Amino acid sequence: MQPTVIAPSILSANFAKLGEEVDAVLAAGADWVHFDVMDNHYVPNLTIGPMVCEALRKHGVTAPIDVHLMVEPVDRIVPDFAKAGASMITFHPEASRHVHRTVQLIKSHGCQAGLVLNPGTPIEVLDWVLDELDMVLLMSVNPGFGGQAFIPSSLDKLRAVRTMIDRSGRPIRLEIDGGVKADNIAEIAAAGADTFVAGSAIFNAPGVAEHGYSDVIARMKQAVESVR
Ligand code: DX5
Ligand code: ZN
Repeated sequence: MQPTVIAPSILSANFAKLGEEVDAVLAAGADWVHFDVMDNHYVPNLTIGPMVCEALRKHGVTAPIDVHLMVEPVDRIVPDFAKAGASMITFHPEASRHVHRTVQLIKSHGCQAGLVLNPGTPIEVLDWVLDELDMVLLMSVNPGFGGQAFIPSSLDKLRAVRTMIDRSGRPIRLEIDGGVKADNIAEIAAAGADTFVAGSAIFNAPGVAEHGYSDVIARMKQAVESVR
């Protein structure tokens, strides 16, 4: 299993102060920046694109930027995100006509590549492509919005994908996204995730206005370590 990563989803940040928000979560112990890209087509919401990724790099962000593409089609926008400073790019197989080709495209631009499985997407989609991946991202909510409740069947799905990854013998990360909170992250870690996206649980945590983000991030890390 890979070292634990906490990746705050900036979808729940204050967009009017995005640079400061990202600096603050990273200073508070976050490992990556999770960057949710939505196109009002693959998902019914519209967010941010490569210009905002580039702006964060120019602002001085050096941490990995984990770009989660919820866009269709996928391939046209991949080089733009690579140029804008993405570290890893994940996409949904339903949104790409040629999944294997999109994985190669991402890697040919120097980024790590990952596949994202919606709650209703069978894990067999990983067959024949798993060995090419740096990361598998399981959605524990339906994509499109922050602040939704964790879907409990995601725990069984995590265990199944953890078994596939372990069997592959490759250093593939297992990321979980949606409804992750300080009080459920331990069971999520126990089910096999090593990379944790959390949006509302970090940016809207009680007391952040007074104390900042370090309390909630430390609580999440402690909970993960307690089951490692
Ligand atoms: C949903 C996004 C998530 C979302 C998570 O489509 O992919 O990254 O921001 O938000 P929370 O942690 O609030 O469920
Ligand atoms: Zn996401």
